[in-house]
Amino acid sequence: KTRVAILISGRGSNMVSLIEAARAPDFPAEIVLVLSNRPDAAGLARAAEAGISARAVDHTAYPDRASFDAALDAELRAAGIELVCLAGFMRIFTPGFVEGWAGRMLNIHPSLLPLFKGTHTHERALEAGVRLHGCTVHYVVPELDAGPIVAQAAVPVRAGDDADSLAARVIVQEHRLYPAALALVASGRARLEGERVIFSGETARPDGAL
Ligand code: GAR
Repeated sequence: KTRVAILISGRGSNMVSLIEAARAPDFPAEIVLVLSNRPDAAGLARAAEAGISARAVDHTAYPDRASFDAALDAELRAAGIELVCLAGFMRIFTPGFVEGWAGRMLNIHPSLLPLFKGTHTHERALEAGVRLHGCTVHYVVPELDAGPIVAQAAVPVRAGDDADSLAARVIVQEHRLYPAALALVASGRARLEGERVIFSGETARPDGAL
């Protein structure tokens, strides 16, 4: 099984969905490590409760991004990590760190990329008046939220939605999409070739379901 680390900064609900999916005997990945850049992240306790090694690497303890990224990298390599999943990890990496994990790091983003990169995606989707919103799992590249797309799920925007009601509809799909996308990548049915994702084996649906 592919050895996976999850990086978080907050509550860790996507992390929990990955941990739960990975409990299935036939799931192609095992979650062996959870790291948070914030010692107060609620997700750290949830990971520990699930019996997974969970630690903070406090970014405020490092003088710059490069030294923080080097500390993260050392933790990941010491644990024999093969694939990294960002799940609500809210820090930008140095290009060097990202290049060291090229093709082996995924992120989930709460919009239909390439729309609404960055933060406050639900507010911005409502402001733009889109009728479909959603979430995306993509490979991480140095440019923020710009990497090749593995899977997406769309949700309707409903009359009367505010950012919270829309976020609540999107997160349900995030929790379904990320495990499906991780399974595709960990099993080799999706892989990065240059700047494109190549799908093989059973044809995967674009939302990651098989
Ligand atoms: C999720 O909605 C995730 O897509 C988003 O943060 C939330 C984390 O929730 N990620 C980003 O905005 C990345 N830039 P969680 O901690 O409960 O998984």
